[in-house]
Amino acid sequence: MLRVVVLGAAAGGGVPQWNCGCPVCLAARTEHPELKSTQASIAISADGAHWFLINASPDLRQQLIATPQLHPRAGKLRHSPISGVILTNGEIDAIAGLLSMREGASFTIYAHPKVLSILKANSIFNVLNEKVPRQPIEEDKTFEPTLPDGSPSGIEILPFAVPGKSAWYLEGEVHAAADDGAGDTLGVRVRDKATGKHFYFLAACAAVKDDLRSRLAGAPLIFFDGTVWRDDELIAAGLGNKTGQGMGHIAMAGDNGAIAALAGLDIERKIFLHINNSNPALLHDSAEREIAERAGWQIPADGTEIVL
Ligand code: MLT
Ligand code: MN
Ligand code: ZN
Repeated sequence: MLRVVVLGAAAGGGVPQWNCGCPVCLAARTEHPELKSTQASIAISADGAHWFLINASPDLRQQLIATPQLHPRAGKLRHSPISGVILTNGEIDAIAGLLSMREGASFTIYAHPKVLSILKANSIFNVLNEKVPRQPIEEDKTFEPTLPDGSPSGIEILPFAVPGKSAWYLEGEVHAAADDGAGDTLGVRVRDKATGKHFYFLAACAAVKDDLRSRLAGAPLIFFDGTVWRDDELIAAGLGNKTGQGMGHIAMAGDNGAIAALAGLDIERKIFLHINNSNPALLHDSAEREIAERAGWQIPADGTEIVL
């Protein structure tokens, strides 16, 4: 059995974002607290006792408090059910939560060498000491994360490259680990070895091409980049000067958007994740929400649990 908990569904900044008065943030602060959402991360487990995070968001502490499955086991003085963290990119909203895991628990960080080099280059992450080994992962090569005693977790992960871009704070910089884009943005397939049940996780993806369509066709479940509804929405709303594409994110709507590109692929359950507070599909009564739902997409609340 593969268990998945959506720890957070929002993009960088969360909902509401600290400095934002857009309609969604405003509603979340006032009459619609149910719109509140923390930054994107999921937790997965094959045995219900040991868990792996996919990305560690800046809201991790709050997410762990809200998730009983991730509390220390009863009777233990110091313990965490978290056996590892799998990183799919080096953005702040994917890695900053590691700093909330600095009190000496043992777990493993799994990431592409590019992302590991970013952690290494930022000495603040040295606070995660020798109890936190870093395991490089490769594109198109499956690996099985291990439990703290070294035994197999029963979960097979397949990382693969998707169109994206380097982390925001590294834009325009030549990074020590090369600057060819390799390792900047990964999708992962997560598979329960015992049952073969699987799903895909792509918190960032700039475009859906034929190879990705074939890969995702027939999947039982996908979590997919839902950052913006339309490419220029931040500019149109006066919230910023970046397009979705400029941030490495595909739009939900439009001819080349995720809804159109992933239609008709016989995907059983489609869930948007990494949804920016500017995205009108977050509003329950919006026309955009209706279009997304009619196309078979869900926008999850934090804490949503799925068993495959
Ligand atoms: C992104 O997904 O584009 C980044 O998380 C942007 C950010 O750090 O706010
Ligand atoms: Mn992000
Ligand atoms: Zn906002």
